[in-house]
Amino acid sequence: MSSNLAAYLAEHRRAVDEALERYLPPKDAPPAAIHEAMRYSVFAGGKRLRPILVIAGAEAVGGKMERVLPTACALELIHTYSLIHDDLPAMDDDDYRRGRLTNHKVFGEAIAILAGDALLTLAFGLLAEHASLDVVREVAAAAGTFGMIGGQVVDIQSEGKSVDAETLEYIHRHKTAALLCASLVSGAMLSGASAPALKAIREAGTHLGLAFQIVDDILDVEGSLEELGKTAGSDRRKKKVTYPGQFGLEASRLKAKSLIEDAKAALQPLGPPAEPIKALAEFIFQRRS
Ligand code: IPE
Ligand code: IPE
Ligand code: MG
Ligand code: MG
Ligand code: MG
Repeated sequence: MSSNLAAYLAEHRRAVDEALERYLPPKDAPPAAIHEAMRYSVFAGGKRLRPILVIAGAEAVGGKMERVLPTACALELIHTYSLIHDDLPAMDDDDYRRGRLTNHKVFGEAIAILAGDALLTLAFGLLAEHASLDVVREVAAAAGTFGMIGGQVVDIQSEGKSVDAETLEYIHRHKTAALLCASLVSGAMLSGASAPALKAIREAGTHLGLAFQIVDDILDVEGSLEELGKTAGSDRRKKKVTYPGQFGLEASRLKAKSLIEDAKAALQPLGPPAEPIKALAEFIFQRRS
């Protein structure tokens, strides 16, 4: 990672974490169990990629971080809810997340389910307060049954089956790419992006979002608990349909790389302000966690 990108990530992560600290109810506010559980997963670490994409989307069209920080936090809260639920025994049944025990392992399944529900609800409250109707619509579509939830449904239904390439792509585009793309688009929308700029950003977001999940599948094969903060080999254990499973590691890497190049090309018309998004796209490909 270039030192520029490392500094960019650290600085934006700090701003996001400070804002999240303000928006999450205090740990001891009654009923304390739920607030503790919400904070446990939000502040377990995490790359904060979605909120950073919100900010990068804004800055690419001349917007300011301060204006989009609540929306950035909302995207991270929705993402964290999706992780808590994704790890439940009824879903991927995983024991580690972000370098610690999963939420249900610590607080029990009932509170983990409710903590996810509460993060999702808090997120839409933040959007109602600080975003625009367009952004609320965009995020709702990306998180709902025609977006992330839809992808998660088909992911679960496809366990142990052999599916065609189209279904595999459907799963990855919906369960993961949709929210990553909505992050970039929301930041740009809130910053008054023109229709052509928004179109370019949406195209880039779709490509980098799919690349992100392909790399996640690769890391599940090649990574370790220490690197990932989550148990490697989870996909094999759950007989998930994945890119490496379908096409092999090398072809998957090539596919991810070519999507990253497509994302960068889509951003070309935006010029230098879109450079951070391009660097983030490269990071998505090269990351080890
Ligand atoms: C993991 O996302 C879940 C997927 C959509 C693949 P991240 O790899 O962004 O997880 P954190 O936020 O850094 O923990
Ligand atoms: C998860 O995909 C996508 C979500 C919506 C959370 P995975 O099940 O592959 O994510 P990890 O590997 O558990 O983080
Ligand atoms: Mg899953
Ligand atoms: Mg999982
Ligand atoms: Mg995975």
